[in-house]
Amino acid sequence: MDKLIINGGLPLKGEIRISGAKNAALPVLVASLLTSEPLRISNVPHLQDITTTMELLGRMGVRLVVDERMTVEADASGVHMLRAPYDLVRTMRASILVLGPLLARFGEAEVSMPGGCAIGSRPVNLHIKGLQAMGAEISIEEGYIKARAARLKGARIFMDMVSVTGTENLMMAASLADGVTIIENAAREPEVMDLANCLIAMGARIQGAGSAEITIEGVERLHGACHEVIPDRIETGTYLVAAAMTGGEVKLRCVRPGLLEAVLDKLRDAGARLETGDDWIRLSMEGRRPSAVSIKTAPYPAFPTDMQAQFVVLNCVARGTGTVVETVFENRFMHVHELQRMGADITMEGNMAVVRGVEGLHGAPVMATDLRASASLVLAGLVAHSETIIDRIYHIDRGYECIEEKLSQLGARIRRIPGSQLGDWTKRQTA
Ligand code: EPZ
Repeated sequence: MDKLIINGGLPLKGEIRISGAKNAALPVLVASLLTSEPLRISNVPHLQDITTTMELLGRMGVRLVVDERMTVEADASGVHMLRAPYDLVRTMRASILVLGPLLARFGEAEVSMPGGCAIGSRPVNLHIKGLQAMGAEISIEEGYIKARAARLKGARIFMDMVSVTGTENLMMAASLADGVTIIENAAREPEVMDLANCLIAMGARIQGAGSAEITIEGVERLHGACHEVIPDRIETGTYLVAAAMTGGEVKLRCVRPGLLEAVLDKLRDAGARLETGDDWIRLSMEGRRPSAVSIKTAPYPAFPTDMQAQFVVLNCVARGTGTVVETVFENRFMHVHELQRMGADITMEGNMAVVRGVEGLHGAPVMATDLRASASLVLAGLVAHSETIIDRIYHIDRGYECIEEKLSQLGARIRRIPGSQLGDWTKRQTA
């Protein structure tokens, strides 16, 4: 397995481009299943989760053509397999998103139950309940969700919990259903809105995306379209925190500041000077050490759970004490133990981390556990006074495009040791 080696202590300075949003590109790619005409998607990030999604769609018979700028043309006219197998679903839970589109267009689907993951049990009961409300017959057999529906019917669906992919699955299914579907307590995330905009370009009749109530009037069929994926607000926030922690000054291009207002507010509270334009953000600490901030995660537009780990590590080296409360997932503090090994002063009280800022962290061999926890270990390595070695970085490659190249562009001392070369490198370290 590859490792990342980081020698910290330098302020990040410079300018980088932010990639398209992983969590928007995934549902938009899957939306290609809803039509027999080509869907052309631009600004797709080059990430492991995207590759996995394209492998899954390809196995189903979707023809995918990718150009050098990661513009993807997906043509689902030749779909011949209505099944999402366990070997792929277990590597990426978002594969559950094929359930709604397969049911809506082909009347049947067989999707492996996604197991839990490091951050929680991650059930999909709301996806299933919503599709059953639309008339689907669904059974769970040998670890697979088996679903059938001659034609889905519009229904009023109340989501017991705000679910991003739950909302996305049901919105896609409803776009081809007979009648009107109303999703109440819908997720308001920008990625849900981006998917809705893509579906509307394909001929869907959707109102209210981005609000807590989405109305979808089903149509007979959808047609091809072109769609540009929105920028990744979590990648944006991650690099802003990296600059704030290292006392640097960075400019991020190809971003949408309006997608992460809650994060920008907290960075200002931490002492960052922020300037924004239509598609750029500049952050400067003007040599200041950040001040600790307290956050509580919740569904959009509140502070995003996907930025929680990054702010825990910001607080680790800030002035003062900050509390971080996680309300969305039940086990999303896996980064805490690893940060404690690097000298962080963190006390856990249930779903709250109390973080007392220390002057500095020291490098250590650490292990990535899930996507955003891994990113927080990279951030910790950037400020640590010695070398940090991060193992199992495949977690990072799922959600951060070219992370070592982008950080190197900002002046960080970071390099990837491919698994194949680890033997020699380890020998040198122990020599
Ligand atoms: C999406 O996951 C994102 N993934 C996650 O990003 C993100 O952390 C999460 O939304 C919350 O914003 C993608 O969009 C691919 P949920 P999702 O359904 O949709 C419970 C990352 O780092 N729930 O909104 O799977 C669930 O257990 C990833 O990029 C049910 O109980 O999350 C959780 O407590 C990690 N039953 C809460 O709702 C259901 O049927 C929110 O989950 C569905 C969800």
